[in-house]
Amino acid sequence: MTQDELKLAVAKAAIEYITPKLDKESIVGVGTGSTANFFIAELAGIKHLFAGAVASSDESAKRLQDLGIEVLELNDINEMVVYVDGADEFDPQLNLIKGGGAALTREKIVAAVAKEFICIVDDTKQVEVLGDYPLPVEVIPMARSYVSRELAKLNAQPVYRQGVVTDNGNVILDVEDLDISDAKALEVKINNIVGVVTNGLFAQRNADLLLMGCADGVQTLTAK
Ligand code: A5P
Repeated sequence: MTQDELKLAVAKAAIEYITPKLDKESIVGVGTGSTANFFIAELAGIKHLFAGAVASSDESAKRLQDLGIEVLELNDINEMVVYVDGADEFDPQLNLIKGGGAALTREKIVAAVAKEFICIVDDTKQVEVLGDYPLPVEVIPMARSYVSRELAKLNAQPVYRQGVVTDNGNVILDVEDLDISDAKALEVKINNIVGVVTNGLFAQRNADLLLMGCADGVQTLTAK
C-alpha cells in the first residue's frame, strides 16, 4: 500500500468510529495536513449527520466549505464531540509531535475543547521516544532570536522555518536534537519561554485514541 492509501484507510476508519457519536447538534473538530485532508473528503459523505465543523487552520476551513460543510467559529460553540487530526510522530503513550504544517497552536486549542481527540496516522509516524522529527515551536516574530537562544540552552538546535507565517501571524522554529524523554515536562518548559506561543508537543493533552494505517489494515491504539 502507498502512504496515501494508508492515509485514506485511517480517514475512513475515523469516519466509521465517529459516526455513532454524531447527532444533528454535533460539532466536529477538524485538523490540518495531508491525512486530515483525506478525513475532510470522507467527512463530506456524512455531512447530513452533524451540525458543522471547527477547523484548526484557514486551509482546512476552506476545504470544508468547498465541500459544503458548515464551518463555525470556536468562540461560538460550547462543546465539541470529537477532534480528528494527524501527527508528525507519536509514542506509546500517544504523546504527539505536531506542527509540520505550522497549524500547531490552533490544533492545540481545538484539541483542548474536544471531548475526544482521535489521531489518524500511517505507520511511518510511530516511534518509541519522540524527537526524531524536529519540534515545531510557534513564536511571536520579535522574540525569534531570544527564543532561539533559550532553546539552544536545552542542548538543542532551533532552525528558523524561512518564509512561513502562521495563520496567527507568527513564525516557526523547528527544534532539532531535543531530549524528549519527559514530554509532559518539556511541553510546559518550552511554553514558559517568553515569546513562545505554543510548541508542538501534545502531551498535556495527548490523543485519546489513535488509528494507525499499516500494510495489514488499521490498528486502534490507546495509551500504554
Ligand atoms: C499540521 O500543523 C500538523 O500538525 C499535522 O497534523 C501534521 O504535520 C501531520 O501532517 P500529515 O498528515 O500531512 O503528515
